[in-house]
Amino acid sequence: MKIRAGIEALAIAIPRRYVDLEDLARARGVDPAKWTVGLGAREMAVAEPGEDTVALAAEAARRALTAASLDPRELGMVVVGTETGVDHSKPVASFVHGLLDLPRTMRVFDTQHACYGGTAGLMAAVEWIASGAGAGKAALVVCSDIARYGCGTAGEPTQGAGAVAMIVREDPSLVELDVGISGAASTHVHDFWRPLGQREARVDGHYSVQCYLDAVSTAYRGWRQRALVRELVRGDIPSEGLARICYHVPFCKMARKAHLQVRRTDLEDAHTPWDASSEELRAAASFETQVAPSLPLCSRIGNIYTGSLYLGLAGLLDAQAGALANQRIGLFSYGSGCTSEFFSGVVSPRAAGRIAAAHIRDQLGVRERISVEEYERIMGLTAPLGQPPPLGGFRFAGVEDHRRQYARG
Ligand code: HMG
Repeated sequence: MKIRAGIEALAIAIPRRYVDLEDLARARGVDPAKWTVGLGAREMAVAEPGEDTVALAAEAARRALTAASLDPRELGMVVVGTETGVDHSKPVASFVHGLLDLPRTMRVFDTQHACYGGTAGLMAAVEWIASGAGAGKAALVVCSDIARYGCGTAGEPTQGAGAVAMIVREDPSLVELDVGISGAASTHVHDFWRPLGQREARVDGHYSVQCYLDAVSTAYRGWRQRALVRELVRGDIPSEGLARICYHVPFCKMARKAHLQVRRTDLEDAHTPWDASSEELRAAASFETQVAPSLPLCSRIGNIYTGSLYLGLAGLLDAQAGALANQRIGLFSYGSGCTSEFFSGVVSPRAAGRIAAAHIRDQLGVRERISVEEYERIMGLTAPLGQPPPLGGFRFAGVEDHRRQYARG
């Protein structure tokens, strides 16, 4: 018998401070429209050292378990996708497992490949459940990162921080994934990387955009081939058969570029000439319906690396889960270096109630807007500030005898 698997519940944790990108642009002598219109970014989450990858992951995981009303004894796997871990050996998942006091009898590990790391974890969990190997257990998958390029760099307005946690199980209440129907694309490139011992990422910015676009074409083609065989989509523009598409969002304009690329791929493969003026207008219109609803949270938090795709999904479901009941959505995950995957799933009729339990938007309302000077001071800090984040979140409290300590505020 086929086991249906996917996302049961989803919750986020974000830093309690943010900087407005118009303030930052003025301080850098940049026309604010370059970032707000040119990149589509409005605000950027700023994590102080107490809000590290572990603290954000543990808090998102705690909220996801609550939103799912799941007894932790039902879990058989905890996996964290991250590219900004806190130790060369001990995984973030191990800290999360301890901080949430989860049962001993489970697999606990991290997955890494730049921003794709969370998707690697999600696929491992979904395929583990769908194969029957999970024997009825659920999995906790967390994507958690702090994105840093450094003050005054071209990447500066595309920083951010946050975590998204997902409960994955059989007969899921949010999104049932189309297991086995996906397309992957990977190439060995140096578009973005972070050498050992460095806090800030290195990036070849414009090249990274091109690598992403090349990847989305190939991955989408792979997904489409399988989806057409299974008749999940039809017609000359199969991407139109998806009610919504969530893309990995390093900055919101990238999702627009990706969507244009997917449309162009459909038309090229249907041997329909790309008439720039009319097709770009049609692609822009379909962007507003198919993609824009997934971007509001991303534009106010920034790039959270592994979690960015799922932050888009969280925002989409929070806003439109009811209207999307029983409809198929597409998801594209990209990790620099690079690897990527296009996959799909169907939104559950129970999704609206389940996502409401995660109180996604409430977290934006309690944030504190800080000045550019305060943001620069926090960027320079290496030790925690000391005061607890709001809503009783976890925080990194310092190092004792080479062991990282965490507290709950
Ligand atoms: P830049 O070179 O300073 O910006 O940085 P630009 O000159 O390319 O301008 C950006 C856009 O603003 C352009 O629009 C301009 O026309 C427009 P486009 O042509 O692209 O549509 N513009 C304006 N619009 C309105 N009013 C104005 C104005 N001026 C210009 N006055 C860059 C851009 C992306 C390079 C930089 O932000 C960067 O390096 N970011 C980091 C790298 C990145 O995000 N790459 C994305 C793909 S790779 C990826 O997604 C993986 C990643 O998440 C990491 C991982 O996998 O772990 C990054």
